Amino acid sequence: SPLHDIAVSKGKQYFGVAVDSNELANATYKVLLDDRHLWGQMTPGNKMKWDATEPSRNTFTYSDADALVVWAQGSGKEIRGHTLVWHNQLPSWLTNGGFNNATLVSILQNHVTNLVTHFSGKVKTWDVVNEIFEEDGSWRSSVFYNTIGEYFVDIAFRAAAAADPNVGLAANDYNLDYGGSKVTAYVNLVNRLKSRGVKITQIGSQSHLIVGSMPSYSTLVSNYNAFVATGVDVAITELDIRMTLPVTDALLAQQRKDYNTIIRACMAVPRCIGMTVWAYSDYYSWIPSVFSGEGAALPFDDQLKPKPAFYGIVDGLNGI
Ligand code: G3I
Repeated sequence: SPLHDIAVSKGKQYFGVAVDSNELANATYKVLLDDRHLWGQMTPGNKMKWDATEPSRNTFTYSDADALVVWAQGSGKEIRGHTLVWHNQLPSWLTNGGFNNATLVSILQNHVTNLVTHFSGKVKTWDVVNEIFEEDGSWRSSVFYNTIGEYFVDIAFRAAAAADPNVGLAANDYNLDYGGSKVTAYVNLVNRLKSRGVKITQIGSQSHLIVGSMPSYSTLVSNYNAFVATGVDVAITELDIRMTLPVTDALLAQQRKDYNTIIRACMAVPRCIGMTVWAYSDYYSWIPSVFSGEGAALPFDDQLKPKPAFYGIVDGLNGI
């Protein structure tokens, strides 16, 4: 079933997949990855992050990211830039630099300007900031927040908009699925940014979820509507739904329901514009290396066979 084609036929912009460079070297994996009817969008899993693109100060390296972009363009996929400003995967020159406010502002502006300019016309939407709030809605500690304060967000968004006036500009985070303080923090942030004349076009909900511990359909829809009410679009940007191993038929059946729930919720909100899974097969999932004893989070198994979850997505796209 052509997930992307179905999504588009139902009014969405895309159904997409995260991709890392090593995956393109796996000819077997690449067969389904190349399919433009299955995936119409790609997010680089790692290669546009700060450590990959500016490994030493003001030296920019784009060869890996460029190769992903060339491949994506050749296989009919729009590109989400991920990510300009994040507290993880930073180069040590930056984290250990001890930079003062003025210097870090110029480093931030230089990084954002360089990346957005380089990928101008190729990246459709950037994750400008990633994971800036804690679960209680307070600011996450980072070299950027700790040195510059809240205005690092304004600075990053303004630099991105100046470098490419046509590119979409998102704030992206996890645990936006359950409502509560973190959702409120983003609603308030969008309102503050807009009141300061800062352009933001989208909230990205990563949606790294757990089988059997899902937010309800109505909670998901109401979160998306809360973002949309501020005047931005919403996208599901890093979807996976993990389980405690071993895999059982009951867990696979529950996972099918859980994928179906979140896809239906996005389909119910016109400004939920697209959905991206964080790799398509369990073979390349980040989950087992971070959550010991958990995995099997994606719609294809590690043999690249579609799981029940895949059919939960298909039904969800069809509003079933
Ligand atoms: O590149 C090195 C390689 O040289 C080395 O040999 C190897 C040994 O461990 O590590 C490689 O780096 C790994 C990198 O992925 C590239 O594969 C890192 O250890 C590993 O920590 C890193 O994990 C990535 C993770 O972000 C880091 O925070 C995952 O692939 C990536 O899927 C994950 O993606 C994040 C999103 O960006 C933001 N939202 C959450 C999501 C999941 O954590």
